Amino acid sequence: MSAHIGYGNAQFEARSDESVLDCLTRNGVSVPHACRSGVCQSCLMHADEGQIPEAAQKDLQPAYKKQDMFLACQCRPEGDMRVSLPEHGLLDIHAIVSAKEMLNHNVMRVRLLTPTPYECEPGQYITLLNADGLARSYSVANNPDADHFIELHVRLFKDGAMSAFLAGANLGDSLIVRGPAGKCFYVAEGQRDYPLMLAGTGTGLAPLYGILRAALAQGHTGPIHLFHGVISEGDLYLDRALQDLAAQHSNLLYTPCVLNGTDGKGYFAGEIETAVMTAVPAEKDSARLFLCGAPEFVNGMRRKAFLAGLSSKHIFADPFLPAKPVAIAA
Ligand SMILES: Cc1cc2nc3c(=O)[nH]c(=O)nc-3n(C[C@H](O)[C@H](O)[C@H](O)COP(=O)(O)OP(=O)(O)OC[C@H]3O[C@@H](n4cnc5c(N)ncnc54)[C@H](O)[C@@H]3O)c2cc1C
Ligand code: FES
Repeated sequence: MSAHIGYGNAQFEARSDESVLDCLTRNGVSVPHACRSGVCQSCLMHADEGQIPEAAQKDLQPAYKKQDMFLACQCRPEGDMRVSLPEHGLLDIHAIVSAKEMLNHNVMRVRLLTPTPYECEPGQYITLLNADGLARSYSVANNPDADHFIELHVRLFKDGAMSAFLAGANLGDSLIVRGPAGKCFYVAEGQRDYPLMLAGTGTGLAPLYGILRAALAQGHTGPIHLFHGVISEGDLYLDRALQDLAAQHSNLLYTPCVLNGTDGKGYFAGEIETAVMTAVPAEKDSARLFLCGAPEFVNGMRRKAFLAGLSSKHIFADPFLPAKPVAIAA
């Protein structure tokens, strides 16, 4: 059955199994989007009329569901719908670029100021939108509520759309922040003595840095092991700060892992997966593992950790899915 999608004064026919996002963009309507996998929430729309399929609201915040919001990339209409873009201010806030600093050759620290303290758990992610509707998700590396700013670690890709925008942004420039979302954050759960393993590749360090500092601030007493995987030595960042943190906390171990590294240089030379697997704690029932960064690493490591005996409910993962352009078929 084909459904009709009403948008403004126009009406479009959705092809069989086509999402609302694909139908609208095929017809020239500009809808912000990035992952097209139901993660980043940049494609949030409002259902003015019609039934929202359950899959289009999976994992959405209850407040969004109540307001009839849905993810256009996950919405395969089961009947006619009338949809609209949410008004700014309903889901988004404006933020101002307040600081920029290169942390290594291609990772830039970006700090954003929000008009009121931003409530978010360190390790969750937000989606940035610029005035052209370009949307990308970034993980929060600090506690914005306490710090009064949001800190992001942005990898600059050579031909990256948001990379170019942020690299060229001036202090004081404005951006739209949507979110937060994601389940990768520290929860003491009444006990603070369980082993905590944090493993990330590249800027996967950003959420882990936030989670690590939240765990230490909340007095986590169990062993904490942070692994940061990179390709070459020059890709490491915050290395000194993490070494200092480990020197100050006897329960914290920090293992930088350099794939193309050399033995005897103060880091693990080889695959981060090997370093993590050899450090799986004996307390497999209680250990928590957080995985962030490249999707191949996160998904592969999740499988290996589960097979090694870690409980699936204690493995938290944030694959950094790249943005997928919409294939516009005629
Ligand atoms: C939940 C979530 C959290 C994220 N957190 C962060 C974060 O904290 N820091 C961060 O830097 N990024 C993070 N990302 C990724 C981020 O959203 C962007 O996808 C990324 O920064 C590239 O955006 P861009 O616009 O600069 O490049 P794009 O214009 O999207 O891509 C430019 C080129 O780079 C390629 N490319 C994009 N990503 C990759 C990749 N990972 N590996 C190889 N090639 C790639 C594309 O295929 C394209 O050819 C996160 C993504 C998700 C879904
Ligand atoms: S959630 Fe729809 S584009 Fe990311």
